[in-house]
Amino acid sequence: MTLSEDICTPAHCERKVPVLATERLVLRAPCALDIGEIAALANDRRIAANTARIPHPYSIADAEHFVASANRHDGQACFVICLDGAPIGVCGLDRRGDDNGIELGYWLGASYWGRGFATEAVRAVIDHAFGELAHQTLQAGARVSNPASRRVLEKCAFQWTGVRLTRIRAINSAAPVDRFRLDRGLWQSLKSWGRVRRVA
Ligand SMILES: CC(C)(COP(=O)(O)OP(=O)(O)OC[C@H]1O[C@@H](n2cnc3c(N)ncnc32)[C@H](O)[C@@H]1OP(=O)(O)O)[C@@H](O)C(=O)NCCC(=O)NCCS
Repeated sequence: MTLSEDICTPAHCERKVPVLATERLVLRAPCALDIGEIAALANDRRIAANTARIPHPYSIADAEHFVASANRHDGQACFVICLDGAPIGVCGLDRRGDDNGIELGYWLGASYWGRGFATEAVRAVIDHAFGELAHQTLQAGARVSNPASRRVLEKCAFQWTGVRLTRIRAINSAAPVDRFRLDRGLWQSLKSWGRVRRVA
């Protein structure tokens, strides 16, 4: 992951987020030009049912609200995930997990599933969280019925901490959610392991 010098500063953002570039993806702050595409991608029950706060159906007004409220609070770092310049999903951090901790969340438009994009985007946001933002711990959750999301978290070294009932807006109910945690020390260890080579 490289951190671009180019800082995305849409007028609505009170707090800047950098542009994160990976091998295939660019992650940047949401802006008004994304509203139509975000509404089209997010208007999918499979996305809403697996995230805590996304409504279904998902309207243009919902996308407008999302863009207007992104990156306005302390602890929030919200990115649109772009492939070849076009939005394909969202990934970000927010201060709303257990103990008011930093919670990682993400979703991709369904036509982009199964190509490793979520893992690539999440790893970039994790590097940003422990690198530039100097967070100590990240939290995340995946419904127990969502093995793809669980796998993304496992591939990013998150550790399972238990199951908790969580309110899911789109189903107007609570559902069991596997909870995960990633500590800075484990992330640092994995990063340094990558630089060690066996010589025999
Ligand atoms: C979860 C989600 C982000 C995954 O995106 P993605 O780009 O397909 O994820 P990746 O390709 O990086 O990784 C998915 C992994 O899950 C695995 N997987 C997918 N479906 C699976 C299933 N039914 N059972 C077990 N593993 C599964 C894939 O094989 C892959 O693992 P691998 O690389 O070891 O083969 C996407 O499905 C999504 O947006 N879902 C709806 C919203 C959501 O669930 N958001 C997360 C909220 S916690």
